[in-house]
Amino acid sequence: MKDSLNIKTTKAGQSRLAETDFRDLPFGKVFTDHMFVADFEDGEWKNFEILPYGPISMSPAISALHYGQAIFEGMKAYTQPDGSVSVFRADKNFARLNKSAVRMAMATIPEDVFMQGIAALINIDKAWVPSEENYSLYLRPVMFATDPVLGVRPSSSYKFVILANPSAPYYSNPLRVKIETHYTRSDNGGVGAAKTAGNYSRAMLPTVEAQAQGFDQLIWTDAKENKYVEESGAANLMFIIDGKIVTPEVRETILDGVTRDTIILLAKSMGITVEERRVAISEVLEAIENGTLTEAFAVGTAATVTQISEISYEGKNHVLADPATRTVSPAIAKKLNDIRYGVTADEFGWNW
Ligand code: COI
Repeated sequence: MKDSLNIKTTKAGQSRLAETDFRDLPFGKVFTDHMFVADFEDGEWKNFEILPYGPISMSPAISALHYGQAIFEGMKAYTQPDGSVSVFRADKNFARLNKSAVRMAMATIPEDVFMQGIAALINIDKAWVPSEENYSLYLRPVMFATDPVLGVRPSSSYKFVILANPSAPYYSNPLRVKIETHYTRSDNGGVGAAKTAGNYSRAMLPTVEAQAQGFDQLIWTDAKENKYVEESGAANLMFIIDGKIVTPEVRETILDGVTRDTIILLAKSMGITVEERRVAISEVLEAIENGTLTEAFAVGTAATVTQISEISYEGKNHVLADPATRTVSPAIAKKLNDIRYGVTADEFGWNW
């Protein structure tokens, strides 16, 4: 990593901090005073800038809008007991952004641009990092194609932007979920493992329909056989069956979640067995019926660890053990929180 990018800084004239209510921070709605931007042009990254957060002027012909070359990441920064700020596992998000870029035939981004962009943004907007438990500064790096050309081919220019959003947890209550049997999120040979805009837009109608039926979220199944569970909403999916964590293995249809990886490593360090493999719908339903499935939960940067209270399949609703009585996933979630907020030693070296 280069020591220092030449980042030009233009400070916001008037901070919005004083008028921001930190007790009311719905996920993704409030942005800090600044953003980091960079451009990829003529084969290189340039124009590194911290700018006041605000609109960017673009041609309506940019190919991100027409053909969907757009990728993003999500990570969180936390206030530490000594008042410093740490970002959780940013190296993993950096690596995944570039994997997504390769899959979408986009420019990759150098580590110094990604890391120093985050550092510069947090330095200037440090006062925006919440300190209340379960609150964090959600960081949203996004890269999109900017060639104003309607020909269908990879863009030769890109913009990289990092936004920062002080926020409350994404979900406030346990989820009632429906196993989706018609629509799919991703398919073999597709882009399910990439964090790209189209994976999220494709999920919107199915989710809205499920919500109209009274559910909070969906469980996606594999598109080929419609037999295995894969993800839940925009998060990975885990179960406790027979006291073990059972979770769909990462494959080309499933996002390689940073929180998923973190929970697996923490669970193993706590002596909990983890099985990463294909998980059939029938196995989940049977385990609910015979009482061996004691917990189900969604894991993601935004979701952290969100309990699932009910799972519906083909019109039959299965009520799971009361989330308030669960012990395994809350214990792992607590260990994760203690590391992120600097309450216990960061034995894995995850805080940056
Ligand atoms: C995240 O957990 O960071 C995500 O990307 C989910 C988001 C789409 C809400």
